[in-house]
Amino acid sequence: MNLQKSRRKRGVILTPQGWEKFQRARTEAEDCDNDGIRYTLEALSFRIGLDSDTLCKVCDRQVGVDKNTLHRCFAAFSLFLEPRDYYRPELPSERVAELGAGRVKVRRDWDEAPDCGVFYGRTEELAQLESWILEERSRLVALVGMGGMGKTCLSVKLAEQIQDRFEFVIWRSLHHAYPVKELLAGLLKFLANDTEVNLPETVDGRISQLIQYLREHRCLLVFDNMETILQGCDRATDLCHCMGYYGEGYEGYGELLKRLGETPHQSCLVLTSREKPKEIALLEGAILPVRSLPVKGLPAAAAQKILTANGCFWESLNDCNQIVDFYGGNPLALKIISRTIQTLFDGNLSEFLQQKPGVFGHIRYLLDRHFERLSDPEKEIINWLSSNHQPASFSQLREQISPQMSPTNLLEALESLTERCLIDKATPKFIDKGSTLFYLQPVVREYAISSSLSR
Ligand SMILES: Nc1ncnc2c1ncn2[C@@H]1O[C@H](COP(=O)(O)OP(=O)(O)OP(=O)(O)O)[C@@H](O)[C@H]1O
Ligand SMILES: [Mg+2]
Repeated sequence: MNLQKSRRKRGVILTPQGWEKFQRARTEAEDCDNDGIRYTLEALSFRIGLDSDTLCKVCDRQVGVDKNTLHRCFAAFSLFLEPRDYYRPELPSERVAELGAGRVKVRRDWDEAPDCGVFYGRTEELAQLESWILEERSRLVALVGMGGMGKTCLSVKLAEQIQDRFEFVIWRSLHHAYPVKELLAGLLKFLANDTEVNLPETVDGRISQLIQYLREHRCLLVFDNMETILQGCDRATDLCHCMGYYGEGYEGYGELLKRLGETPHQSCLVLTSREKPKEIALLEGAILPVRSLPVKGLPAAAAQKILTANGCFWESLNDCNQIVDFYGGNPLALKIISRTIQTLFDGNLSEFLQQKPGVFGHIRYLLDRHFERLSDPEKEIINWLSSNHQPASFSQLREQISPQMSPTNLLEALESLTERCLIDKATPKFIDKGSTLFYLQPVVREYAISSSLSR
């Protein structure tokens, strides 16, 4: 309750983007409604219905104002206030916040979170995630995508952007595959401000204690690299029932996700993974507070920035776009090829393109790791799509592959490949009345062809 009061006192401030939006609308209104003459402070106060002191605070952007004030300012110019248009001024990290009966510190533990200083694009993804977490109060959010797509960086940027809305921010990489009991012990200790905690013996007991904290405090937890504790598919099996399931000894993570998704609390767990954990697949939905965001390649403009920032140039923009398409806008792949282009072609991307580069070095290693985890039906689909040059509909796949594979296996395998973002789908517009088509990203197709040739 006292924390609520302190937040109200801090209020919100327009971001540069929100300020620009407001200014643009104001200038347009001056042109249309005021013969191009700038509004005086009084005229602006009258139009918005706010006293001039408050309006000065909005325009100075030095101290916070009530969020409704910003809503009024925006509504006066027919604008809609979005989460990215405002922020809450940063709390000094060690500031003491009043909470309930006791006093606790606002605390952050970034653990091994990487520094993602150079970061392009992703504004839509960040706005979507911010809206799920801050406006819709999602409790569990998964960022799922192929290796190198930028899931970790996106999670760091997101957490940095919304950190001041939480009392605790805890970022953990699961790369070291901690047993869940150990991970929970670390979280509980941190949440108890490193004071003596009475740790329950069982995983269930520790999850209950964690949920208690997540109810009493607004916490943001980020678990990176969740795929580390998921099992790959058993090559021998024909089924892909293993997709999104846990490796031996890590089943407790499933229980943790399930309870964090199902039980009411005021916190949020964001996780990144190359594969979607099964709890997310089962719980997510438009009205449930469990969401997943497929992290896809960067659009051309952002991808070009990565290439130029890494010393590449090109003779025609088409050359650059061909490279970006081939590597599916994967930021890691683009950084890797930039290094090769620098070393071997003095930064000339067009010259590199003429060599028909294909899949090499770390990009091959990355795809090897993905392919190792595929089941036989998944491999069969990828091989068929790579040899068939056109995208294919589900019925085409069924006709071509199904004699050897049951329709159920085909469905499961296709779903798991799409969720891992190894297969893309193009959904024709309703008016076309066509079927959804499945296709491989060029780099995945090239990899599949070269792997089948080398077998
Ligand atoms: N939006 C971006 N702009 C610029 N560089 C980016 C962007 N996103 C990611 N990168 C860079 O691409 C590389 C891969 O990003 P990241 O580690 O976040 O990928 P990932 O999806 O988490 O991969 P993995 O599945 O292997 O964990 C990093 O070097 C990162 O700095
Ligand atoms: Mg990562």
